[in-house]
Amino acid sequence: MTMKTNLSRRAFLSASTAAVSTGLVAFPHLAIAKSKAISSTTSLFGAPPPGVAKLNANENPYGPSPKAIIAMTEAISKGAYYVGGAGETLKAMIAERHGLTKNHIILSSGSSSALTNLAMMASQKGSILGSDLFWDATSFMGTRNSEHGIKRTPKTDDLSVDLDAMYFAVDGSIALAQICNPNNPTGSIVSPQKLQEFCKKVSQKTMVLVDEAYNEITDEPEENSMIPLIKDGYNVVVTRTFSKIYGLAGMRVGYMIAAPETAQLISTYGHNHFYDLNQAGVAAAVASYNDTAFLNYSKSKILEAREMIATAVAANGLTALPSQTSFMFVNLGDINAEDFRQGMAKENVMIRGVYQDYTHWSRVSVGKLPDVEKYIAAMPKVLDSLS
Ligand SMILES: Cc1ncc(COP(=O)(O)O)c(C=O)c1O
Repeated sequence: MTMKTNLSRRAFLSASTAAVSTGLVAFPHLAIAKSKAISSTTSLFGAPPPGVAKLNANENPYGPSPKAIIAMTEAISKGAYYVGGAGETLKAMIAERHGLTKNHIILSSGSSSALTNLAMMASQKGSILGSDLFWDATSFMGTRNSEHGIKRTPKTDDLSVDLDAMYFAVDGSIALAQICNPNNPTGSIVSPQKLQEFCKKVSQKTMVLVDEAYNEITDEPEENSMIPLIKDGYNVVVTRTFSKIYGLAGMRVGYMIAAPETAQLISTYGHNHFYDLNQAGVAAAVASYNDTAFLNYSKSKILEAREMIATAVAANGLTALPSQTSFMFVNLGDINAEDFRQGMAKENVMIRGVYQDYTHWSRVSVGKLPDVEKYIAAMPKVLDSLS
């Protein structure tokens, strides 16, 4: 091995150490590629270039947790192999927390993969019912090649999920009733008692899916979860993800919880985790699943930033829906949300534009405090320019 053509051991070790302490990759040639990418507007890793506040995808920029970074650094050296026992370990950890068995758990590439598989399965039988506005990307994907599509209940004045309207809309054409709780992009939550009642009644008629991607960020995560209904035998399925509070969106790990026979059926629409997941993502999920110090820290920062946004929204004479998530849905009054998005982008603040016909509602994700400060500083300027 010559020093000219090969990486020296010292260079490799110092790169690995840097990887652990910064969360960067362990190989210098990739680090160089990253530094080149930073000078352009797009980054090699999807992370924002310096100076840009990325507040558009509900990621947790405090992640990954230090424990996850160490686990991933070790796991990448095993990247030649498919995911093995760590997948079973992760299933066992999830099952244990909820008093379920491993057969209740489907591991998934993010929660998207399992959600899409379920949508595909449902769309063979009928339509998917949702509220007017919910996180519907996987329902679209799953119904794409089906004669059935998505049916929606009408918008309510306060943009909440209308459980009564959904209940009355369930007829023989509905194969799946889907609730996102808390909802995305509105950020609001329905009362756990009402949702339990809804799930119990509706699951007698059709399968109910509750997407709990933001559950851990709510004030009462346990009370808000519908997972206990699965244990009680109701035809309810719940999804969770490592992409949000766990700060692992780019590592693609999520899971679905269902009765074992339902889980088995849904699994026939996709790969098992052996093919669907990656070694580093599973290692990170195992390492951070019970990392309460990291989770509590992230949550406290998310709530702090959310409060800052709420205060700024009010200071600008606007309102936002009450949020139980890592984002807020802001009513811009007369201003179009896409115009606002473009104006904020010029200030290096990335947020979301229009959703469906919600033309004056703008979603902003909670980021690190300096990024939120950037949003707050740019807001009056952009609003003024559009008034
Ligand atoms: C409500 C909700 N569910 C599911 C997802 C899918 O995320 P992932 O596939 O990363 O778990 C998202 C992503 O933003 C979401 O907001």
